[in-house]
Amino acid sequence: MKFKNTHKDHQITDEAIYYNRRKFIQQGLIGAAALSTGSAWAYDVSNHNKNKQFILDKITAEKDATTYNNFYEFSTSKSAPAELAESFKPESWTVEVSGLTKKTGTYDLEKLIKQFTLEERIYRMRCVEAWSMVIPWLGFKLADLIRYLEPDSSAKYVYFETLYDPKQFPGQNRRSIPWPYREGLRMDEAMNELTLMAVGMYGKKLPGQNGAPLRLVVPWKYGFKGIKSIVKIKFMSEQPVNSWQQIAAQEYGFYANVNPKVDHPRWSQATERRITGGFSLFNSRIDTQMFNGYGDYVANMYKGMDLTKNY
Ligand code: MTE
Repeated sequence: MKFKNTHKDHQITDEAIYYNRRKFIQQGLIGAAALSTGSAWAYDVSNHNKNKQFILDKITAEKDATTYNNFYEFSTSKSAPAELAESFKPESWTVEVSGLTKKTGTYDLEKLIKQFTLEERIYRMRCVEAWSMVIPWLGFKLADLIRYLEPDSSAKYVYFETLYDPKQFPGQNRRSIPWPYREGLRMDEAMNELTLMAVGMYGKKLPGQNGAPLRLVVPWKYGFKGIKSIVKIKFMSEQPVNSWQQIAAQEYGFYANVNPKVDHPRWSQATERRITGGFSLFNSRIDTQMFNGYGDYVANMYKGMDLTKNY
C-alpha cells in the first residue's frame, strides 16, 4: 500500500535525523550557541547525562510531538499552538516560590537550572483523550529542585501555576478554563525519581507549544498533569485543586494515574492510539498499561488506596 510505505519512510527519516543529532550532541559538535539560536535566553542543553534506563519504545517523530499539542493558553485546537507559539518569547523567565519553605522568593530560571544536572529521559506519555507518544525529554529531577528549596516538613503537596499573560497567550482572552492553568502533586510523587522538570526535548530547548521554558513531566499520569510554562511553585499542607478538577471534578481527579480499568465517564481508557510518526490513520491501538507501564517505580506510593475513588 502506497500510504503505508510513505508513513514508514517518514518515520524512519525522522528517527534517523533524531539519532544523528544525538550523536552530534554526544560528540559535543553542537554547542550551546547553535542550539539556542534566535533567543537571548540560553543554556547548554548539550551538557546533560543520558539516562537509557527508561527507553522502551519507538520514539514519536519530532514533528508530531511539536504539532499535535494541548495548550489552551494558545488555543483549544491541537494544531494551532505550534503556529501561535512562534511569537511566544519565554525570556528573562522567573519562577516565584512561595508557601511552606524558608527559601521563598523569585528565582531567575537560567541561574536556577545551572544548579541541577540535565538528563535525557525517554518517556511514554499518555493523554486522557487516549492518544500516546514516546518523547525524549531533557530536564532535571523535580526532587533535586525540591531538595534545593528545602520545604518545611509540613509541606505535603507541591502546587504549580502557568504564566498568565493574555498578550502572549491569545487563548487566555477566552474563558475556556479559569486562568491561570494550575496543577499539583503529592510530595512523594513530586520526589519520585521519574518526575522531571523539562527544559528541552529531542536534544533542543522546549518549543513554546510544548511548554517552554519549563514544564512538568509525570509519565505515569495522564498528560494534563504536565503543566506547561511554569511561573509559580508553592509548597502546601493541603491538597491543591487542579484546573481540570475546577472544570469537571467528576471527570478529572487529583491523581490522574494512567489506569486502563478506570474509564473516563464518557469513554474507555483501556486502549490508546500510539502516535509514532506520519499519517495518524495508520497508528495502531495498543493496550494501555497500569501506571503507563511505570508501576515498578510508582505503584508502592498508592498501596492501600482505592484508585477508582482516587482517580
Ligand atoms: N499546561 C498548560 N498550561 N495549559 C494546557 O492547556 N494541557 C495539558 C498539559 N499541560 C495544558 C498544559 C494537557 S491536557 C496535555 S495532554 C499536555 O499538556 C500536552 O503536552 P504536549 O503538547 O507537550 O504533548
